[in-house]
Amino acid sequence: MKKVYLDNAATTPLDPEVLDAMLPYMREHHGNPSAIHSFGRTTRAAVETARRTVASLLNCAPGEIVFTSGGTEADNMAIMGSVRDLGVQNVITSPIEHHAVEYVAHAVESEGKAKAHWLKLHADGQPDLVHLEALLKAYPKALVSLMHANNEIGTRIDLMAIGHLCRQYDALFHSDTVQTMGHYRFDLANTPIDFITCAAHKFHGPKGIGFLYMRNGATLKPMILGGSQERNMRAGTENIYGIVGLAKAMEVGYRDLDEHVRHISGLKQHMKKRLLEAVPGIGFNGDSSEKALYTVLSVNFPDDGKSEMLIYNMDIEGIACSGGSACSSGSNKGSHVLGHLYPERPGANVRFSFSKFTTQEDVDRAVEVVARVFAGAPVKS
Ligand SMILES: Cc1ncc(COP(=O)(O)O)c(C=O)c1O
Repeated sequence: MKKVYLDNAATTPLDPEVLDAMLPYMREHHGNPSAIHSFGRTTRAAVETARRTVASLLNCAPGEIVFTSGGTEADNMAIMGSVRDLGVQNVITSPIEHHAVEYVAHAVESEGKAKAHWLKLHADGQPDLVHLEALLKAYPKALVSLMHANNEIGTRIDLMAIGHLCRQYDALFHSDTVQTMGHYRFDLANTPIDFITCAAHKFHGPKGIGFLYMRNGATLKPMILGGSQERNMRAGTENIYGIVGLAKAMEVGYRDLDEHVRHISGLKQHMKKRLLEAVPGIGFNGDSSEKALYTVLSVNFPDDGKSEMLIYNMDIEGIACSGGSACSSGSNKGSHVLGHLYPERPGANVRFSFSKFTTQEDVDRAVEVVARVFAGAPVKS
């Protein structure tokens, strides 16, 4: 049975080109980049070359990039650091952020360090900009933290419009760009934003590595102490092969971007069309316009008793996708995103997410299994 992987928003497979770039730093170049001898100079050069590559792809300065253990750490750093070091007293965010943002907003509030404000959203998950402006007016010394694209439903916000609004009210702006980095181009020098975050494993890089972009002037103090690495921003011996892999994954991602957008968007449209034909009563969560994240399709299946076991049956057939239910009964707490946006929507929700390695055959096989489940036909066991 050929397995089909449609869970690329959770993580993507490592690109062989990326692995090739990493291997010399696993096999041969083992020097500590802080050492002054030639072994250390080799790995130091690799780290700094990677930083320059990332900066040039995003049009920012190398000094504005701090490598971290991934998206979660970078989100924590942006919010906690802004509150601790930049005088932020109000964190304006939304109830459908990734937990790496949502939990931090709750934490700074419960520790009495800042007040958290939860933005109203439209039904497709887009922020209500009238409410955002009212909050910005009412609460000065604010950090606005809104994810660029939602990992569950794919709704993608307008960074430019929100950034300009933040500038107008002197607020700092952080965006969790974990789902869009490597999938959309960024021009940070010309974008009114102070912090963005990255996780390499979402665009065919290795796991356990990411970065925080920190606009010059919005400089935070380190969260992890004990060494002068990352220009005193994050202590600890660098994850050299991770950093090399991250830069390579970005390079490859942006080199082939147009082709991937075309390929993956085509798959998403194809799956939507095939699902609509296969299962009457199907619906889609989030923004279904072209602006939405092209790698994610969030589907709401009819509540006819068959959707309950859908993900389980798909798994039996070797198809990996991810669930998320608005229901919060029993041990399945469900998705806070779907629970917030669609509390009354019955039926199972399934997120299919695609990558450059996904094929039309993969999508067709997934639809075929879905159709079989809804036709009441047995799945393999
Ligand atoms: C939107 C978003 N933010 C943050 C993260 C966390 O990133 P990491 O796994 O690198 O800590 C993820 C990954 O699941 C994500 O999808």
